[in-house]
Amino acid sequence: MEVKNITVLGAGTMGHGIAQAAVQAGFDAVLYDISAEFVEKGAARIKKSLAKRVEKGKLAQDQMEAILGRLKTSTNLAEAVKNADFVVEAVPENLDLKKKIFAELDKLCKPETILATNTSVLSVTAVAGATSRKDQVVGTHFFNPAAVMKLVEIICPVGAADKTVEIAMDTMKRLGKTPIKVKDTPGFIVNRLLGPLYMTAAQMVLDGTATAEDIDTAMKLGAGHPMGPCELADFGGFDVIQMAQDSVFEYTHSEADKLNILYRKMIEAGRLGFKNGKGFYDYLPDGTKKPFKVF
Ligand code: 3HC
Repeated sequence: MEVKNITVLGAGTMGHGIAQAAVQAGFDAVLYDISAEFVEKGAARIKKSLAKRVEKGKLAQDQMEAILGRLKTSTNLAEAVKNADFVVEAVPENLDLKKKIFAELDKLCKPETILATNTSVLSVTAVAGATSRKDQVVGTHFFNPAAVMKLVEIICPVGAADKTVEIAMDTMKRLGKTPIKVKDTPGFIVNRLLGPLYMTAAQMVLDGTATAEDIDTAMKLGAGHPMGPCELADFGGFDVIQMAQDSVFEYTHSEADKLNILYRKMIEAGRLGFKNGKGFYDYLPDGTKKPFKVF
């Protein structure tokens, strides 16, 4: 089967970026969310991002219109998935919610449709277990910003058919991404490796070894990272990092993977990172940021 129609469930940070990557690559895509407000917001973010590329001279106006012409939005799940060859679910990281959606997708989608979850934390095998097509489910872990970042981790749950993994790999390549395969284990590859970096950076802030800003500068200029670990932790969100680290720690029992107390304290203080403008930095309405003094 060659995938032509992609449906993305969830129009938030990841979902809108995945839909953008799909229509940019020439697929017809439907962006679904539960309310008109959410889908309109997601579609507006796609339009804004493309308009910026037109402004910069990287995309012609007619190309932008063609790309947008391939994007449909929907708040009706049955309608949104009825023609889908490949569904990418990118709803909030809640296993019960994902299982409920996959059970519905199983009934609503064509028998050959591949179902993918964009979880960065949860067991793909558990999500697949909610369907009667356990061999047709994979994880497609995109990275933020999804329209830009080249990597997609293809998570292979227990029981996935080789054919399913092959179609997922091929579809991600056609989407302009570089897919790599990984077994369904907590943290997969990237978050498993990023976790200890986030934890060590937080401990250094707590110890007063250096400021968050200087730690970020050190890793950008000394190690060539595009963003420092504190900025990147803000970008990912402390609540997401907490869920990821707790599940990785439960698996490895390695001290290096244990959630650093600072993230727990930040969450308790209502600081979730970039998403609510409060993390290692305060993100100001004018688009600038200033370091937050933790203690
Ligand atoms: N949406 C769409 N496009 C975006 C974007 C966004 N949110 N942010 C940046 N871009 C585009 C820009 O428009 C620009 O496009 P162009 O080259 O066509 O002009 C291009 O990306 C580069 O952007 P900028 O020049 O503005 O800025 P940078 O060169 O600093 O790049 C960045 C921005 C791509 C975000 C870069 O800082 C980066 O790579 N950061 C690291 C991101 C990262 O590590 N992400 C993974 C996080 S972990 C994760 O997602 C896992 C999950 O489970 C939590």
